[in-house]
Amino acid sequence: MTVQPAAYRPGPHSQNLISRDDDIMSGSMVPRYPFVMARGEGSRVWDVDGKEYVDFAAGIAVTSTGHSHPKVVQAIVDQAQKFLHIAGTDYYYEVQVRLAERLTQIAPFGDDPARVFLCNSGAEAVEGAVKLAKWHTKRQNVIAFFGAFHGRTMGALSLNGSKTIQKQGFAPFVPGVYHVPYNNPYRCMHGREEATCQAACMCADYIEDVLFKRLVPPDSVAAIILEPIQGEGGYLVPDARFVQQLREICTEYGIMLISDEVQAGVGRTGKWWAIEHFGVEPDIIASAKGIASGMPLGAVIARKDIMSWPPGAHGTTFGGNPVSCAAALATLDLIEGGFMENAVEQGQFIMDALEEMQAHHPSLKYGRIAGKGLMVGAELVLDAEKTEAKALRDAVEERALANGLLILGCGFNTLRFCPPLNIDRATVEEGLVKFEKSLTEAEHMHGLL
Ligand SMILES: Cc1ncc(COP(=O)(O)O)c(C=O)c1O
Repeated sequence: MTVQPAAYRPGPHSQNLISRDDDIMSGSMVPRYPFVMARGEGSRVWDVDGKEYVDFAAGIAVTSTGHSHPKVVQAIVDQAQKFLHIAGTDYYYEVQVRLAERLTQIAPFGDDPARVFLCNSGAEAVEGAVKLAKWHTKRQNVIAFFGAFHGRTMGALSLNGSKTIQKQGFAPFVPGVYHVPYNNPYRCMHGREEATCQAACMCADYIEDVLFKRLVPPDSVAAIILEPIQGEGGYLVPDARFVQQLREICTEYGIMLISDEVQAGVGRTGKWWAIEHFGVEPDIIASAKGIASGMPLGAVIARKDIMSWPPGAHGTTFGGNPVSCAAALATLDLIEGGFMENAVEQGQFIMDALEEMQAHHPSLKYGRIAGKGLMVGAELVLDAEKTEAKALRDAVEERALANGLLILGCGFNTLRFCPPLNIDRATVEEGLVKFEKSLTEAEHMHGLL
């Protein structure tokens, strides 16, 4: 008989801080994981009791260059010594313009020039992108996807189709949002077999055949907002044809295609923008998270002729903070200078390792392993019927903490592997060993082994 490991309890300093936090911080923000950060370096972090962890979470795919990369820190210090804030909505400053120039150079709009609006977060970037689409098209409606996560502000929240808890108690939502199925042959929302769905996905057809015929005239739709790889919803990599069909629909009906690259963008998947994997050019991009290595920054990047709103139509006090812009410039240099290639290499290594583990781990055997670059998901299931292994997934997260690994869940039963883009092979291997140990323990606890 296997001895069950004791439930993980962090050290005394961690426990002390956790009880202070629980007493004073908003109850909506109770962290899921009892890890109390003391410091970080590269792809490793330490808690306040001195315990070391491999970081496969990167603060939800944010610390793209690792924790406190010296070049990013230096850029922050240099800028902080000059000035911290001046408000780009009223005054000019160079670091913001330099960042915007840089972002337009990497924007995936073919030869079309671009413009940039800088803000503070992913939700704000999404809000800005949708406002821009509405302003430009003079239309009211937006199409979003089941499984989507776009943020917590009322506009972004209205677009979410991921988990009921995020929306419960906050109705009414911004009107004019229509949710449609997202391509996922592993769990086809039209109830079809995996192979049938793979061969001919019906999700984009649904927009034209059902939505446009029965509910919403296409000329009232301002935008389709798409996560090119669904993040919070479960790390789903869609079929290229699905994304291409969305582009075709947008082009045919004059609808803006917004690519929400908040989680998947800025090199994480091995290309600057995840939508590039599908050979598709969007009209508007929302970016944040990894763009500034952890400093708060968001960006709306759009084709120049689309971002034509007049002065005062949209603005921000803190957006494009000069220190965040300096951090972003250093981040983009590092990602371009080799981290993006590294993401491809280490991501493939993780995918291969997970596929190898399928032979020894019942919860992975019939599961779904998918990803691009360092955006890799492993969906755990209990059996060949794909019964969601939610409690087991939660147990893996808990055992991982005990074993010195930070790893995050997403969807209902998926684990995400989204470490810093410069993680080295030795640290990946060490993290995978800790992951497999945690998986084994969790499978024991749930009677699968
Ligand atoms: C795809 C996507 N869009 C938007 C957001 C919201 O970003 P933020 O939490 O910075 O507002 C997130 C956050 O997880 C995200 O993954």
